[in-house]
Amino acid sequence: MVRFSAFLTLFALSGHVFCQSSTADQYFAQESPIAKANLLANIGPNGSKAQGSNSGIVVASPSKSNPDYFYTWTRDTSVVFAAIIDQFTLGLDNSLRSQIDNFVGSQARIQQVSNPSGSITTGGLGEPKFNVDETAFTGAWGRPQRDGPALRATAMITWGNFLLGENNSTYVQNTLWPIIQRDLDYVVRAKLEPDNVRFPAQGWSYLLNLTSRFDLWEEVSSSSFFTTAVQHRSLRQGAALAAKLGQTSSTYSTQADNVLCFLQSYWNTAGYMTANTGGGRSGKDANTVLASIHTFDAAAGCDAVTFQPCSDRALSNLLNYVSAFRSIYGINSGIPANQGVATGRYPEDSYMGGNPWYLATLAVSEQLEDALIVWKQQGSLQITDTSLAFFQLFSSSVSTGTYAASTSTFTTLTAAIKNYADSFVGVVAKFTPANGGLAEQYDRNNGNPVSAVDLTWSYAATLTAIDARNGVVPASWGAKGLTVPAQCNRNTGGGGGGGADTVSVTFNIFGENIFLTGSVDQLQNWSPDNAIPLNADNYPTWSVTVNLPANTGIEYKYIRKFNGAITWEADPNDMLTTPASGSFTENDTWR
Ligand code: NOJ
Ligand code: NOJ
Repeated sequence: MVRFSAFLTLFALSGHVFCQSSTADQYFAQESPIAKANLLANIGPNGSKAQGSNSGIVVASPSKSNPDYFYTWTRDTSVVFAAIIDQFTLGLDNSLRSQIDNFVGSQARIQQVSNPSGSITTGGLGEPKFNVDETAFTGAWGRPQRDGPALRATAMITWGNFLLGENNSTYVQNTLWPIIQRDLDYVVRAKLEPDNVRFPAQGWSYLLNLTSRFDLWEEVSSSSFFTTAVQHRSLRQGAALAAKLGQTSSTYSTQADNVLCFLQSYWNTAGYMTANTGGGRSGKDANTVLASIHTFDAAAGCDAVTFQPCSDRALSNLLNYVSAFRSIYGINSGIPANQGVATGRYPEDSYMGGNPWYLATLAVSEQLEDALIVWKQQGSLQITDTSLAFFQLFSSSVSTGTYAASTSTFTTLTAAIKNYADSFVGVVAKFTPANGGLAEQYDRNNGNPVSAVDLTWSYAATLTAIDARNGVVPASWGAKGLTVPAQCNRNTGGGGGGGADTVSVTFNIFGENIFLTGSVDQLQNWSPDNAIPLNADNYPTWSVTVNLPANTGIEYKYIRKFNGAITWEADPNDMLTTPASGSFTENDTWR
């Protein structure tokens, strides 16, 4: 392939500290105006590659076949406009105001469009994508997707807060707030959907339903870390804006607390967030890295509860995520562990060949840059047992503790991490074609662009990675000082003796060689290898009795193992909510 420039290739291939930063400087200097121009070219009505789309509509990509991305997705749109709103409100580009006004107008209209997910009041806001003329897309799709309304609310709230600072409260109250309120009400009201009749409208069961449905990759219907994280952020900052506007905010705060509780449940003792509890995946997923950069709040320091980029959990997670790609892509071979590699959505991905994605690799550099901003700002960095393995990438002798900015450990580690961040930019630079265009993916074996060309989200990811590298700090959203509320300790209420913490559940199903796995430790956390065998004592019914945590929403699936082959039940996952005590039986039918 033709490289971005021979000069860049030379530096991208070299591993030295100076060269990494020089490559990133050069690449971003050249790519920044290209990314901005190509991003705007995909926005209607005037974007040169968005012909036929309405005002303010973001086309995911101009590609009209293989894949056809000439649609507008609420997620992509909101991520793109979050970047544009930051650029404008932080004073980086004063030319974008009319684009933002167009965005507001388009979303106010599109919210009203009835679609296969429902009408404006019955779930239609969770529809993932629309035609570019703002009519409903009625083909089969993984719907609903519940990150969209949350991301859109966050972009609009950030804009609203800026306008309040400009004393434009009439517009915020009359134009923005109704749009924001509808999205936030969708986020808290998702419990009204039909499946909820299986669950009491409270507790984990409620949250499971609230935060689940198709993930951001549109493939798995289950709880998804990214969705939960962005829902939490939208409710938290929505409550704050509601209070400022004299609107009711208590439902948003209450649900923000509950969602924050639920967010913690994705942590897995192997040291990463299990991004997705569906489809038999490892759960290592760019989903988590995106969650950390899209909920970055420098005022929150390195708080792990909100998974801040420099938190010990987010760094350990990053190590696990990146490591998952080192051996599976040909273009990563021979790269040492302290240097960046190509990363994709998740290691098991097979969509369009299952390649690295530009936006995923850029997100790694952005998370690291966000972390560097905070360490510098607070004048220290902390290494805990959880983050030790991450820091050992850069210094094998380092140990847990807090290191002030004046120490050599701080200087050495931050310099190495800066270099590490830039080495991910170097990977993207190396595989950017000569015209600077960024597709969705780049080939796992030769680095050539693959799948949708000019992916708008790839350009937005470039702009935000550049901003973070320049030390730009986005507006705070209220993550500082949040604690996990006590009431989410749902499994500790009963005390000793009565077995109140667990419930005995018997699973029965007709079949052959059936195993069971699911979303909790007691069901082996979706591991097909460790799935629990059912017994055939009452053949042809297969059965097993398991003690499960009480008062808990649980997802599970049966799998069949035969001659080394594993067959999963069809989607969606089965769900149940355990009661406070006692025992019960689930009689299921293989799907
Ligand atoms: C299209 C979706 O946009 C993509 O994320 C997914 O991987 C494929 N369909 C396959 O389900
Ligand atoms: C597929 C991605 O998986 C999804 O996240 C995105 O919204 C669409 N493509 C459109 O870019």
